[in-house]
Amino acid sequence: MGRLILAVFGAGRAGSIHARNAVMTGRAEIKWIVDAVPNNGRKLSDELPSQAKVVKFGDHDQVLQDKSVNAVIVTVPSLMHEEVIKGCLKAGKAVFCEKPLTLDSLSTKECFELSQANGKPLICGFNRRFDPTVQSIHDQVQRGTLGQIKSIKICSRDPEYPTGEYAKSSGGIFKDSCCHDIDIICYILKEFPETVYAIGHAFNPDIASVGDYDQVFIVMKFPSGVNASIDMNRKAVYGYDQRLEGMLQEGNLRPTATILNTSDGERQDSLVVQFTDRYKDAYRNEMDHFIDVIAGQRDSIVTGKQTEAVIKIAEACLQSVETGQAVKMDYS
Ligand SMILES: NC(=O)c1ccc[n+]([C@@H]2O[C@H](COP(=O)([O-])OP(=O)(O)OC[C@H]3O[C@@H](n4cnc5c(N)ncnc54)[C@H](O)[C@@H]3O)[C@@H](O)[C@H]2O)c1
Repeated sequence: MGRLILAVFGAGRAGSIHARNAVMTGRAEIKWIVDAVPNNGRKLSDELPSQAKVVKFGDHDQVLQDKSVNAVIVTVPSLMHEEVIKGCLKAGKAVFCEKPLTLDSLSTKECFELSQANGKPLICGFNRRFDPTVQSIHDQVQRGTLGQIKSIKICSRDPEYPTGEYAKSSGGIFKDSCCHDIDIICYILKEFPETVYAIGHAFNPDIASVGDYDQVFIVMKFPSGVNASIDMNRKAVYGYDQRLEGMLQEGNLRPTATILNTSDGERQDSLVVQFTDRYKDAYRNEMDHFIDVIAGQRDSIVTGKQTEAVIKIAEACLQSVETGQAVKMDYS
């Protein structure tokens, strides 16, 4: 197969990362960029080795009708995902879409049904699965050399609050942010939780004013007996703090990218400030994987069933925080 032809919808932070990574694989080119603000599209196009055609959102039928386009990268604000995904799948394009795939489990299911009906892959951007640290924990747990895993703890903290406006269109902290942590726990364990409980608070007035939370704790119980917890905070003054720890029968896995052990002892580097630095490799590996999938070289490791389960768990977290009750999960 020759180079794949791609279109990007949404030329902001995520769109720029994925467009550059797709081109860097040497296996794809970006032919079209669609954005509500064409200047954002032009700025991204100027950064690419070959210019893309920039189209204003609303005038993008020509992109969907372009038979040479194999696939679309969807990186518009989350509120717009469902409409764009469905339009692209109906036009016969494969789709990579940022998380959360849509803002509720029903529409997520509908999108995967459409993907199946049209025979075109749909992949949700759960990039953290492709992080070498997460991958190494996943592989060690699956290999089983340290025995049964008993618990997983995640600490996931952003350096700066999002704006109230972002929080409002993002689907809220559980769907927008905790979905990553929920996803990697389920990916490592190969099962979904049977019970979910969450508490939360908004310290930031802008976030409180849109009914969202900026600090949440989630606990989950899995059918195998594993307990997992997520401590998520939208603002940590000391940087982008991402830690995952797994306790197994024969030891504790505590990999971290920030602690360096050498013959001179242990040194702790400052935390990186942004997700773009912490997950640089993950984004590259993720886009490489997507291109393998579109090229028909493999099935995606991020399935529809998993993507739908993650959004159901995020919905259960919100229900729990609002009712103060634990939620028994139903994945039917
Ligand atoms: N996986 C990750 O680590 C990660 C990181 C950042 C963002 N994201 C996700 O990526 C998506 C975009 O977030 P972002 O931070 O890049 O946002 P952003 O605001 O930086 O960029 C969004 C872009 O979409 C454009 N846009 C808005 N409405 C549009 C429409 N209807 N059609 C076309 N373009 C439109 C905006 O003009 C802007 O250029 C969100 O779903 C977010 O959750 C994921």
